[in-house]
Amino acid sequence: MTVSNSSTVVIKPPRTISGSVRLPGDKSISHRYAMLGAIAEGTTRLQNFSTGADCASTLGCLQSLGVKIEREGNSVVIHGRGPKLETPTGPLDCGNSGSTMRMLSGILAGQPFTSDLIGDASLSRRPMARIISPLRTMGAQISAKDDRPPLSIIGGNLKAIHYKIPVASAQVKSSLLFAGLFAEGETRLAESVRTRDHGELALRAFGAVVTIHNKQTGIQGGQALQAIETTVPGDISSAAFFLCAAALFPDSQLTITDLGLNPTRSYLLDLLAGMGLHISVTQIEEKHGELMGTLQAQGATLRGATIASPHTEMLIDEIPVLAAIAPYTQQGIEIRDAKELRVKESDRLAAIATNLRAMGAEVEERSDGLRIPGNQRLHAAGLDAFGDHRIAMAFSIAALRAEGETTIRGADSAVISYPEFFETLESLAQRR
Ligand code: S3P
Repeated sequence: MTVSNSSTVVIKPPRTISGSVRLPGDKSISHRYAMLGAIAEGTTRLQNFSTGADCASTLGCLQSLGVKIEREGNSVVIHGRGPKLETPTGPLDCGNSGSTMRMLSGILAGQPFTSDLIGDASLSRRPMARIISPLRTMGAQISAKDDRPPLSIIGGNLKAIHYKIPVASAQVKSSLLFAGLFAEGETRLAESVRTRDHGELALRAFGAVVTIHNKQTGIQGGQALQAIETTVPGDISSAAFFLCAAALFPDSQLTITDLGLNPTRSYLLDLLAGMGLHISVTQIEEKHGELMGTLQAQGATLRGATIASPHTEMLIDEIPVLAAIAPYTQQGIEIRDAKELRVKESDRLAAIATNLRAMGAEVEERSDGLRIPGNQRLHAAGLDAFGDHRIAMAFSIAALRAEGETTIRGADSAVISYPEFFETLESLAQRR
C-alpha cells in the first residue's frame, strides 16, 4: 500500500494478514470521559485517549468552555471545573463529530449562558431533532434551522423528564443523562432498542448514581462528579477493520491487546465467530465497568450472515466493513433495519453500494438495507471515501482481496476516528 498524496491511498492485495496490534482508545468512551472530566471536581487523567480528530473536537470545545486540558501523546489531563463551565467567547466547533454536538448539548442545556455549536458540511446535514426536542422539554431554549446544525442553546433551569427515546441512539441517551445531572428531579429514559451503555458506565465511574428499573435508565439531578484516573480500552470499531481483514485470509493470525469488550459493543465478535472466524479472548479485566482483554483471531472460510434489528443497532459502526467483505463470503450478507446509516457522516448505504459496484460486485440497495450476494470476485477500482472515515477504511479492507491495485480518494478522512489506520494496516499486511 502506498499513500500517494495526503488524501489518496493505493491498496495492493497482500498474501495474508498477520501480527499483533494495540489500538488507540475507544472514541465513544473518550468523548464521554472528557466531557464528564470537565464538569467533575478534581483532575482527570486518561491514558490511551482516542487519537481521532472527533475526540480532539470535543477537547477543543471543552477548552473554549474554560476547561484546562493538557495533552501529551495519548494521555490527556483534564482539570475539572465542577458543574459550572465558562461562557464561550465564540462558536464551539464540533468539526465532523455528531457525538460532540449531541452529547455536549446535554451539558450545555444545563449551563446558564448561550452556546453556539457549529460543524463541518457533513455534520451540518445531520439530524438534531432527536436531542433538540427532549432538551427543549427539559427547559433549554434551542434554535436551529430545520433541526440541523448550527445550534444555539440557552441553558439553565432544567426539569427532569420521563422520556422514551424514539430512535435507537446512544448519543441521545448520553446527552439526556448528562442534561439530567443539571435537572431538578429524576430523569428517566426508555429505549426502543438497547444501545451502548458507555454513558451510564462513565457517569458511575465519576461517582454518579445511575439506576436501571423496568428497563428505564434513571439519573437524579444535582449529583456532583469526582475526577478519575484510567486507561481507555482499545476501540472495537477500529478493530473491526483488522478483524474483517483477517477474516478474508484463511491463514491469517491476528492479535489485538487491550481491546474494549463492552458487551453492548462486542456483538461483532459473535457475528464473525458465527461466520467462521476463529476467535479467542484472554486476559479479561475490568476498569470502571468497561471490559478489556486480548483477542486472537485466525482466518477460515467465511460463511454469510443476515443482520437485522436489534443486531443492526449493535453493529451500527461496523456495518460498512462487514458489507465491504460480504462479496467474499460464501453466502453473502443481508443487512436490514439500517436506515440510520443514511444519516451518518455520509449516506453509508449509498456509499457502500456505489463502491462495491465500482469493484464489479452485484449489490441490491434498499431504503433501509443492502443485500450483497456471496462468492463474488471483485476487481480493483478508483473509489471515493465520500468524506467518511468508516467508508475509507472499509474499502481499504475490501481492496485487500480484489484483483489489482485499488485507489481510494479522500482516504485521509480516516483521521476522524483512526489517524494511524493505514500505517497499522500496512504493518499487518504480509507481502512475502
Ligand atoms: C455513538 C453512537 C452511535 C455511533 C457513533 C458513536 C456513541 O451513533 O454510530 O459512532 O458514542 O454514542 P448514534 O447514537 O447516532 O446511533
